[in-house]
Amino acid sequence: MIIRQYGDPVLKEMTREVVDIDAAVVALTESMVETMYEAPGSGLAANQVGVQRRIFVYDIGEGPRTVINPRIVETDGEWVYEEGCLSIPGLSWEIVRPNAVHLVGLDLEGNELSIEATELEGRVFQHELDHLDGILLVERLNPDQRKEALGILRRRTLDMPAGDPDGLSRIFTR
Ligand code: NI
Repeated sequence: MIIRQYGDPVLKEMTREVVDIDAAVVALTESMVETMYEAPGSGLAANQVGVQRRIFVYDIGEGPRTVINPRIVETDGEWVYEEGCLSIPGLSWEIVRPNAVHLVGLDLEGNELSIEATELEGRVFQHELDHLDGILLVERLNPDQRKEALGILRRRTLDMPAGDPDGLSRIFTR
């Protein structure tokens, strides 16, 4: 699958809840995991491959996991981490976010998940949740970081491919 890049409007849209965890959703998450490993990255949200559904996959070294309809219900503390994004390749910034997060959602079998995470895992959850809400890393930067980032990204987006290269928006539109 093609990972949508900064400047692609799908990355700025709010995603919608998954109603049925059907075969199409399972197949989608398998392709997303493959795409995440190829990149490589530690997390990937569905809208990064053009599907406007609340799904993300991740792997922080313990194998691939999928979370459907995720929500963060509690956060605590602060942690600084140099954060990057597969939709903004080659760039990363030190960003302060809460350290501990409590994530709830569903797994691929529809079972309820409840995960208390800190540090890298907690950061991945917050980053992917942001994606699903149409928020990119650039919006989490301080004013100085943001100014520098937008300068670089403005030049980059000039020759960005547009459209729906995988045709996924048609399959998942209803
Ligand atoms: Ni990202």
